[in-house]
Amino acid sequence: MNIGNDVNRAAFLLQQGRMVAIPTETVYGLAANVFDDLAIQAVFERKGRPLDHPLIVHIGRWQDVQKVTDQMPEQLARLADWFWPGPLTLVVPTSPRFKSLCTAQQDTVALRMPNHPTTLSLLQALPFPLAAPSANPYTRVSPTQADHVSHYFPDLPYILDGGPCTHGLESTIVGLVDHRVTVLRPGALSLEEIQKIEPEAVLHEGIANRAIPGNRTLHYAPRTPTTAFDHWDELPQWAETERIGIIAASTPKTPGAFPHLWHLTPVGDLQAAGRNLYRQWIEADQLQLDHLFIQRPPRVGMGIAINDRIDKACGQRTEQGH
Ligand code: TXA
Ligand code: MG
Repeated sequence: MNIGNDVNRAAFLLQQGRMVAIPTETVYGLAANVFDDLAIQAVFERKGRPLDHPLIVHIGRWQDVQKVTDQMPEQLARLADWFWPGPLTLVVPTSPRFKSLCTAQQDTVALRMPNHPTTLSLLQALPFPLAAPSANPYTRVSPTQADHVSHYFPDLPYILDGGPCTHGLESTIVGLVDHRVTVLRPGALSLEEIQKIEPEAVLHEGIANRAIPGNRTLHYAPRTPTTAFDHWDELPQWAETERIGIIAASTPKTPGAFPHLWHLTPVGDLQAAGRNLYRQWIEADQLQLDHLFIQRPPRVGMGIAINDRIDKACGQRTEQGH
């Protein structure tokens, strides 16, 4: 069996230069020793990810920050103090000593301390940080449960099972742009939370596409063609047929009319919607329906990241035609 909760086995494999899927509070990652370029290259290849799309470095000890950077800007250090371990990734300048394929030759590195007890103990048992992208094939929806990972990659050496992810959306990526704390990718930590510590923090303007390297519109796409909608009256008549799925952010007047209906959240709880989104999306995708409709929740709090992922999944189809 290649799924279990054996931290020692995961640590052993990682020390051998193998890749291991790890749980985090956001989504599952596909991890390898950050200093082992062969192992990192294997992660890029396994995911089918272009080499110009950098990976996040995961640490489990504060002193490991120095392994990657010696210039943590003060505003970002404050955010780390407040939110680590947690769903916050910081983009910082790399130290001249830090060489890894994971940065895709950027002079910055994305760094985070995840808040998951199993992965924290794994990181603390290892002498090196772990580079890990989300554990999905390139352009597919990120996994939030161990069985999603094994569905995507049945033959991984090991999947460390830490249960369902409590946030279910990727971490929020924050860096400095013109000296200003800027959200480069909205995620599980809302802008409002960040602004409690850094009131001047802003969302990057080009957020949908080019705020971060490699972040193409093609991201987060389910295989089923997907269309976003706001109001129920926008749905075409043919949405009420057998081969159509609906992920809903509110209750339709006639729920019985839709044979495949998922509720992002029954009570308008956007945290729950974030937790449910990818799981429902993956379930819908596995049914191989003809079309999926997904309703946008309000663009506040966690709703900003949810809308970002929905826009990316649907934008791809109109811009690139598949
Ligand atoms: O929640 C998460 O962040 C998950 C878990 C596993 O930690 N990881 C994740 O990794 O979402 P990934 O590889 O799917 O997305 C990493 C993002 C990419 O869009 C990449 O462009 C950005 O991080 N990134 C990495 N290094 C960067 C850098 N130096 N500057 C700006 N963005 C960077
Ligand atoms: Mg990803």
